[in-house]
Amino acid sequence: MTDVAIGRYGPRVTTGHMATGRFERVNGIGLMQGYVERIRRCGVVPVVTVPDIEAAVPLTQALADGGIDVVELTLRTAAGLKAVEAVARQCPDVLVIAGTLTLPEHFAAVKEAGAAVAVSPGFNEPLHHAAVAADLPWLPGIATASELMSAMALGRSLVKFFPAGLAGGVKMLKALSGPFPDATFCPTGGVDPDNLKDYLTLPQVVCVGGSWLVPLKAVTERNWGQIRTLAQEARDRVDALRGN
Ligand code: 3PG
Repeated sequence: MTDVAIGRYGPRVTTGHMATGRFERVNGIGLMQGYVERIRRCGVVPVVTVPDIEAAVPLTQALADGGIDVVELTLRTAAGLKAVEAVARQCPDVLVIAGTLTLPEHFAAVKEAGAAVAVSPGFNEPLHHAAVAADLPWLPGIATASELMSAMALGRSLVKFFPAGLAGGVKMLKALSGPFPDATFCPTGGVDPDNLKDYLTLPQVVCVGGSWLVPLKAVTERNWGQIRTLAQEARDRVDALRGN
């Protein structure tokens, strides 16, 4: 694999640090846009639980072919960590996010595997310190004002809002933005094509996460065309909503 890998959607982001706001260094080209800008531009982050390792690269490539060049690969299956490693190596033009990090030891493991960003469904201080120790950008999950306060007290102002639908959806996000105008969110859990517009048009929403782009049936049937189509539809919706 060449070090300088310019893909269809730009060069690969290789490292970063949320707490300091440092921008990522990319393929020796120099300081480029940060991962936050990268996920904002993508708009929709597919949340993927790979059932088997062989599926990881082709499904990610199908997403990228459809214009979605960010993927969150969760640690929910035995194949999860290996999927992060395979995609990080073989899809250099895709920003690889490792998801469902629930234990401190997960951070070093996904960093070693090549993840550029980590995401958790919740927040606690040991996870914060593990993310700092691994020098890995991290989106903790929050669902309440108290959890958001705990995260922001440690400098975490970009958070996953999870499970978005059950935690109050768009109304809750608007309510949180009153006392916390500096907080920004990636709502996930219950976001779908029907309510995408409601979330994405809020200024405090950087991107949304969702599993609808990668249906399990499409993966088990190796229907990469369906995943590419779903990605294209999402790409078109995001571009239309944001005027990209
Ligand atoms: C997640 O882990 O972020 C959610 O399970 C994704 O939620 P969804 O399946 O409702 O999109």
